[in-house]
Amino acid sequence: MSKCRVCEGEVRKFFDFGKQPLSDTFLTEQESGEAYHFRLAVGLCTRCTMVQLLEEVPRDRMFHHDYPYHSSGSRRMREHFAQTARDLLATELTGEDPFCVEIGSNDGVMLGVIKDAGVRHLGVEPSGGVAELARKDGVRVRTDFFEETTARLIAGEDGPADVIYAANTICHIPYLDSIFRGVDALLRPGGVFVFEDPYLGDIVERNTFDQIYDEHFFLFTARSVRGVAHRFGFELVDVHRLPVHGGEVRYTIARRGERAPSPAVPALIAEETSRGLAELGTLEKLGDGIDRICADLVALLRDLRGRGLSVAGYGATAKSATVTNYAGIGPDLLPCVYDTTPAKIGRLMPGSRIPIRSAEEFGRPYPDYAVLFAWNHTEEILAKEEEFAAQGGRWIVYVPEVRVL
Ligand code: SAM
Ligand code: TMP
Ligand code: ZN
Repeated sequence: MSKCRVCEGEVRKFFDFGKQPLSDTFLTEQESGEAYHFRLAVGLCTRCTMVQLLEEVPRDRMFHHDYPYHSSGSRRMREHFAQTARDLLATELTGEDPFCVEIGSNDGVMLGVIKDAGVRHLGVEPSGGVAELARKDGVRVRTDFFEETTARLIAGEDGPADVIYAANTICHIPYLDSIFRGVDALLRPGGVFVFEDPYLGDIVERNTFDQIYDEHFFLFTARSVRGVAHRFGFELVDVHRLPVHGGEVRYTIARRGERAPSPAVPALIAEETSRGLAELGTLEKLGDGIDRICADLVALLRDLRGRGLSVAGYGATAKSATVTNYAGIGPDLLPCVYDTTPAKIGRLMPGSRIPIRSAEEFGRPYPDYAVLFAWNHTEEILAKEEEFAAQGGRWIVYVPEVRVL
């Protein structure tokens, strides 16, 4: 039996992907040694309803100097974070000398806009390489993991924060107790803790099972977030569904009693209840979808290869590690994956060891078919690569089901 990382209740497993490699570790051809593997299994806490992984990967194995994900790699996400920064500047950062802290600031995509507005800020980012990129843009960053001790140090050095913001980071952190204590130590009275992460409701609705990988330790709902906030003296006061990364929710959290919760909070929780998002039966059905999608994808790739057609992947996403390794897709079915990230190009996909090539080489020559692993950037990539379709190339998507576009 697994114990809940939030409440120590019993976590019941609803899907097991078996041994998986780390999703963001891209080895070179020469690095043939045994890569680190862990058991990727996901379950539901029967007490507090938090959906979580059963095995935790040590944080330094995932978030280190060479962490390859660069937030600024997508135009759409740059726009999203610029808008987020403008919203925070217009609402929460209006007092005298406001201070904004971002947990997991990556290459500074959000804080750069806060900096340009002349507002005091600090990014807390353990991955040294991306932190350095942010610093080059003039963003103030502390290379560190955010946790209670870090938060106390920041509060001592910079004073209290008006806003503590995080995107696609809080769900990566199993030690939420230390996070909330840290937020309590650093947040000014009346301030807010705002974070956005992939939403379990969207994952279930669209079968986006590849959102499950080492870094995504928690899959949040409004109900589970309200519960964890409550344990540490906070309250979930607002929720907004966001159309990025395949469906996320932005949670706004304040100290209990400081702000009246918006009606959007009970409304979303009621919707979750009617959809059975905290019931094991609902989540077990996700497993049927996972097995069907993986079988269909492998069958399609085998058929195309058998007919002598060329196929490649597009987007060496962290998500795709779950798909390729669970489905058993290797270089025989998919000879290469194209990507724009410098730190991934020339390396191998984790586990499957499919070579990654620069997206600039995609058209030299185009494959007949391309599996769109970066499905969360569909619009942007289809527009950028319109020549591929114009020349007869076909995109393959696999969520919510395997389809040739
Ligand atoms: N916020 C960016 C975005 O949404 O594009 C980056 C998201 S990236 C998927 C997750 C980031 O969280 C990584 O840059 C990682 O180094 C950072 N991270 C992981 N654990 C952290 C912690 N305890 N404190 C601060 N950052 C952390
Ligand atoms: P993400 O799903 O975690 O955002 O990762 C997206 C991956 O897709 C990342 O490795 C960069 C890559 N990518 C491209 O290759 N071309 C693009 O146009 C975009 C938006 C992303
Ligand atoms: Zn629990």
